[in-house]
Amino acid sequence: MKETSIDQAYWEQRWLNGSTGWDVGAPTPPLREYIDQLTDKSIRMLIPGCGNAYEADYLLSKGFSSVTLLDIAKPAVEQLRARYAGDDRIRVLNEDFFRHQQSYDLILEQTFFCALDPALRKDYVAHMHRLLHPGGTLAGVLFGREFSDPGPPFGGNKEAYEKLFSPFFTIHTLAPCYNSIGPREGTEIFMIAKT
Ligand SMILES: C[S@@+](CC[C@H](N)C(=O)[O-])C[C@H]1O[C@@H](n2cnc3c(N)ncnc32)[C@H](O)[C@@H]1O
Repeated sequence: MKETSIDQAYWEQRWLNGSTGWDVGAPTPPLREYIDQLTDKSIRMLIPGCGNAYEADYLLSKGFSSVTLLDIAKPAVEQLRARYAGDDRIRVLNEDFFRHQQSYDLILEQTFFCALDPALRKDYVAHMHRLLHPGGTLAGVLFGREFSDPGPPFGGNKEAYEKLFSPFFTIHTLAPCYNSIGPREGTEIFMIAKT
């Protein structure tokens, strides 16, 4: 795997500095609506680069029983471990996504892809594919815009995502979000991709 300067130390420093401008304080509407139409509550689910993982409480409230939260930054993980101590529906891992090895039915993407150095994008797609069962799903939000400041976040567009994901996934949805939060309106793409 490629080494980049946006590494564990970088993310831990951002958490310790409170430099977490990505954090919107709640599960976002695109993710909520996607979760709302899932019927099998027993599926094994992963949220990589989960940060404060607001989706987790939402998933629990909807009856999901197997959710793995994973983040490379210790400060993020520590507060999640405290929040979910004793709850066997939630597993919290302090790991590098690229080193994680398990098998899931569904992986939720929320501001993790855009946080990674673009040099890692092909590795991201290949590893997502590896982590999913045959017939498994990767679903969530990608930015459909570029950013002028040096990232993260790093942006992209529909054509680039099609090219990137299609060698590994069958893309079912790759469409502008109609339900983004205000500050992200018109800038997000919802993706549903299957192995
Ligand atoms: C932009 S934040 C998004 C957090 C959360 N998903 C949200 O939307 O609020 C990116 C998160 O990914 C984590 N992260 C970055 N690289 C990672 C890696 N290689 N493996 C696991 N987590 C990683 C960071 O620590 C950070 O919490």
